[in-house]
Amino acid sequence: MQTESHNISGTQPLRIAIAGLGTVGAGVVRLLETNRDILTARAGRPIEVVAVSARDRSKDRGVDLSGVDWADDMIDLARRDDVDVILELVGGSDGPALALSRAALGSGKGLVTANKAMIAHHGLALAEQAESAGAALKFEAAVAGGIPVVKALREGTSANALARIYGILNGTCNYILSEMEATAADFAETLVDAQRLGYAEADPTFDIEGIDAAHKLAILAAIGFGARVDFDAVKVTGITQVRSADIAQADALGFVIRLIAQCDVEQVADGSASLLQRVRPSLVAKDHPLASVDGPTNAVVAEGNFSGRLLFQGAGAGDGPTASAVVADIIDIARDEVGAPFSIPMKQLKALPPTEPGHRMERTYLRFTVADRPGVLAEITAAMRDGDVSIESLIQQGRANHGDEVLVAMVTHEGPERNVARALDLLEGSESLTAPPLVLPILPS
Ligand SMILES: NC(=O)c1ccc[n+]([C@@H]2O[C@H](COP(=O)([O-])OP(=O)(O)OC[C@H]3O[C@@H](n4cnc5c(N)ncnc54)[C@H](OP(=O)(O)O)[C@@H]3O)[C@@H](O)[C@H]2O)c1
Repeated sequence: MQTESHNISGTQPLRIAIAGLGTVGAGVVRLLETNRDILTARAGRPIEVVAVSARDRSKDRGVDLSGVDWADDMIDLARRDDVDVILELVGGSDGPALALSRAALGSGKGLVTANKAMIAHHGLALAEQAESAGAALKFEAAVAGGIPVVKALREGTSANALARIYGILNGTCNYILSEMEATAADFAETLVDAQRLGYAEADPTFDIEGIDAAHKLAILAAIGFGARVDFDAVKVTGITQVRSADIAQADALGFVIRLIAQCDVEQVADGSASLLQRVRPSLVAKDHPLASVDGPTNAVVAEGNFSGRLLFQGAGAGDGPTASAVVADIIDIARDEVGAPFSIPMKQLKALPPTEPGHRMERTYLRFTVADRPGVLAEITAAMRDGDVSIESLIQQGRANHGDEVLVAMVTHEGPERNVARALDLLEGSESLTAPPLVLPILPS
């Protein structure tokens, strides 16, 4: 038997510069060092770190950067003639990350980034710049960390028309929700715990309000449906209103609660189409594959018309998984396997208007916090009747926090979303409701 030999001596190395040496940047340096031989063989040439930049030169990064140039100003990385590819691992939708990315593509260099916020907001402009410069723009690590879902949608499922893409795209929210489920602790308490363990940032707003998941969803929607990235059209609800009582109720009904990001394209009879993108805490049946996705894990489901349902699951963050995705992009560039950033040429990306989902059929979980007095339940059920919402089950729970409030939860039969909205409008201003109702969709199986 002959063994394959990789003759790469004499081959030009791919020269990279890294901006940002935090969790991801240092992870990339570590991976390049640890897997050097594997990478050289798979890339067909050595990958060499030429220069790096971060804020604090004196900080110990736990990696060997001897022999690597340091740039105080990261834009200088884009000005170097001895660099082929820039890694933008700084973060932030604008500011230095965007300035560096523009400079890198402007000088014809390849750009690899893990920055979902920047790609969600400026991905189209950067892709246009990359296309006209003939440069690579790659962002596998921007969505779902170590899960190669960008590649899966660009390449693996490219023969399919996708019916929908949905999943769990934020590890912080998934950790919090699955911990609330395991411990019966409330949201605020679990968030503090998540921060202590490093699963949530000191300022957790982007995660718990669903914005981070929305960034990733906007990117997946563009790739999966050949649409222009439209982050502003994502309808987002975070997890801050979910109480442990909702999780207990969902459990009793056979569900768990997960933050689900979902997108699909709706074709209209006149030949036009619209794009639905939304992020919502949702009830997920316990026998659905996403129900067993616990802790900081991410998972993405893509439903192709020939492939059927595909599930991609793995670590959505962390130095190792994210570095794995970044370096896979570098290998593609080293092999000249680049392709269009959003899977098809920029001019062919469709500008799809957002779907108005009022007519969509859905089962819904509703939770009301109400005053503990006679007639309240009758008022709520009357509003449901007048809104043409059919109640499948109704549960009056025990007292809420303060003794004079009661939680009432119900699950509706499938019906148009607008009917639930209409019923809730009828309850607007009611003195029986002591807090805004919580409305959670039930994910279809
Ligand atoms: N962490 C993850 O698991 C993960 C997963 C997927 C995607 N991402 C994305 O990857 C990117 C980096 O995330 P991270 O977690 O590695 O962040 P991080 O640990 O905070 O690291 C950020 C790095 O950027 C440097 N930096 C920040 N502002 C700078 C400036 N103005 N000039 C020069 N350097 C600057 C910092 O320098 P100093 O170290 O000197 O302060 C640090 O090295 C973000 O876009 C993030 O969304 C992260």
